[in-house]
Amino acid sequence: MESIDDYITEHIDQEPDLLKHIYREAQLKLLHGNMSSGHLQGRLLKMLVHMINPKKVLEIGTFTGYSALCMAEALDDEATIHTIEIDDEMEDLIVNNFSQSLFGEKIILHIGDANEVIQQFENNFFDLVYIDGNKRDYWLNFESVLPKTEKGGFIIADNTLWHGKVVEPVKSNDWQTKGILEFNNKLKSDNRVEKVILPLRDGLTLIRKI
Ligand SMILES: C[S@@+](CC[C@H](N)C(=O)[O-])C[C@H]1O[C@@H](n2cnc3c(N)ncnc32)[C@H](O)[C@@H]1O
Repeated sequence: MESIDDYITEHIDQEPDLLKHIYREAQLKLLHGNMSSGHLQGRLLKMLVHMINPKKVLEIGTFTGYSALCMAEALDDEATIHTIEIDDEMEDLIVNNFSQSLFGEKIILHIGDANEVIQQFENNFFDLVYIDGNKRDYWLNFESVLPKTEKGGFIIADNTLWHGKVVEPVKSNDWQTKGILEFNNKLKSDNRVEKVILPLRDGLTLIRKI
C-alpha cells in the first residue's frame, strides 16, 4: 500500500532536479545525510517565504544548502538570505551547490559559529529566521536572533518534536533532546512572541515576534 508520505509528495509541486540531486548526494556521501530538508519541507519553506515575503532572511545551519535554496526560490529580486554553517569542511560543497542554482546569488554564506556570527550583524534586521543548527543551542540561538528580528517578523524552528522524544523519558546524556525540551518549555511562556507547532515531519515551530 502507498504510504501517506509518498501520496503527499506525489500531490504537491515537484522537487526541482538540482535539489533532488543535492538531496540524493547527501544521503549517499555524507555521514548525516538525513539532516537535509527534503521534498515536502523544502516546498513548504518556499511557500512560507512567498507568504511572508521577507527582504532579509537568516538561516542557522546550512548543511548542503538545500533549505537555503528552497527559500531563495521564493525571494523578491532585492531580497537576500544569510546562512551560517559551522563546519568548514562543508564550504566547498555548499558553494558548488549554490553556484549551480539560478537562485544561488541571493544567498550569502558565513562559515562560523552562528552564536558568534549573529553578533556581527549589527545593523541587520531579519524578517524571517530559520533555526536549524545544533539542537543543544536552540534557546541560545533564539535569544541571539530575537533582537535582530523585526517586530512582526517570523522565526521558524525545525525539529521541535525531535523524533517524538519530547514526550518520552530523557536519558541523562541526551543533550540534544534536552536542548529541544528547554527551547519548547521556555518558548511556551515567552510573551514576546506568538507560537504554534506544526506536526510536520520532525516538528516545525512557527514563531511571530510581537
Ligand atoms: C540539520 S542540519 C541543517 C540542514 C539544512 N538547514 C537543510 O534543511 O537542508 C544542521 C547544520 O547546522 C550546523 N551547525 C551546528 N551547530 C552550528 C552552529 N553553532 N553554527 C552554525 N551552524 C551550526 C551543522 O554543522 C549542520 O550542518
